[in-house]
Amino acid sequence: MKILVTGAAGFIGFHLSKRLLERGDEVVGIDNLNDYYDVNIKLNRLKMLETQSKFEFVKGDIADRDAIDTLFKHHSFDRVVNLAAQAGVRYSIENPHAYISANIVGFTNILEACRHNKVAHLSYASSSSVYGANTKQPFSEHDNIDHPVSLYAASKKANELMAHTYSNLYGLPTTGLRFFTVYGPWGRPDMALFKFTKGILEDQPIDIYNNGNMIRDFTYIDDIIEGVVRVTDKIPEPDPDWNGDAPDPATSFAPYRVYNIGNNNPVKLMDFVEAIENAIGKKAIKNMMPMQAGDVPATRADTSALAKDVGFKPDTSVTDGINRFVSWYRDYFKV
Ligand SMILES: NC(=O)c1ccc[n+]([C@@H]2O[C@H](COP(=O)([O-])OP(=O)(O)OC[C@H]3O[C@@H](n4cnc5c(N)ncnc54)[C@H](O)[C@@H]3O)[C@@H](O)[C@H]2O)c1
Repeated sequence: MKILVTGAAGFIGFHLSKRLLERGDEVVGIDNLNDYYDVNIKLNRLKMLETQSKFEFVKGDIADRDAIDTLFKHHSFDRVVNLAAQAGVRYSIENPHAYISANIVGFTNILEACRHNKVAHLSYASSSSVYGANTKQPFSEHDNIDHPVSLYAASKKANELMAHTYSNLYGLPTTGLRFFTVYGPWGRPDMALFKFTKGILEDQPIDIYNNGNMIRDFTYIDDIIEGVVRVTDKIPEPDPDWNGDAPDPATSFAPYRVYNIGNNNPVKLMDFVEAIENAIGKKAIKNMMPMQAGDVPATRADTSALAKDVGFKPDTSVTDGINRFVSWYRDYFKV
């Protein structure tokens, strides 16, 4: 297949492109290479992808309508996976407009291009953050998600709503991917594992939010990719049992689905830190901090829909995943 991966120079986009190329797909990757975090890591990910003859990179912004129209004029895509977005909860407090541009305007352009070019399936990154203020655990796709607590979360929920309208109006099959805290080699420098590893290795204090009283369903990158590939291969169909008198948020009368892709095995933040200390062989200097605005204290994915529909359940242990990340980090930065 010929697959468009947006955000291909990003953490998940890089791993997904690599995996699709390995199985023989042709991949076109688009990314604007913005400097939200160290651009070198994006360029180095791209360097690895560009060794593959079936990979083509286009530098461009998904919020640029002309650029997206031109891209779709030059290529006929069997699938589109939209991962390009302004990520991060905390950054959305200071930089709201970045989220509207990439996540709302950009996603509109992708929807329109998929509609007019009759793409067989659009899958797109949503996030566990859509569960917002919900406290019922584990988080299920059947739950109502009307209480986002950050603009980032609201932009991801908006993507799901926008996708639903396109699935309804134009019969465009869409699948939303609610990722739960993704970590692993080539991970994002703005996320906890990267920052903690760097801090510990450099004897710098690490900031621990909510005094460590956080629980996260950390999900290893290879598990995320396995889930994304399986879900992208499965084109959603209308749910014949969907009933507007008791509307189930998880499915629809239209070809629309959303899936949690998470570990269903949440870890206390302090245990996560301890696992990193063990992997490095050194104790962290901990700077206990209050809860950050926009953050949620606990996440846990109900993954039964993923298991039922595509026969996959993430299962990499945090210890294995952290060990693999730390070896990558030491190798990449030669420390
Ligand atoms: N990593 C996680 O834990 C996590 C969790 C939930 C959801 N997500 C979502 O998954 C997707 C991928 O996340 P990631 O961790 O790989 O983030 P990332 O920041 O590493 O990747 C996103 C990539 O998109 C690019 N990009 C941003 N805006 C763009 C635009 N307007 N046009 C073109 N390219 C643009 C960036 O340069 C970056 O390379 C995002 O949509 C993110 O919101 C990630």
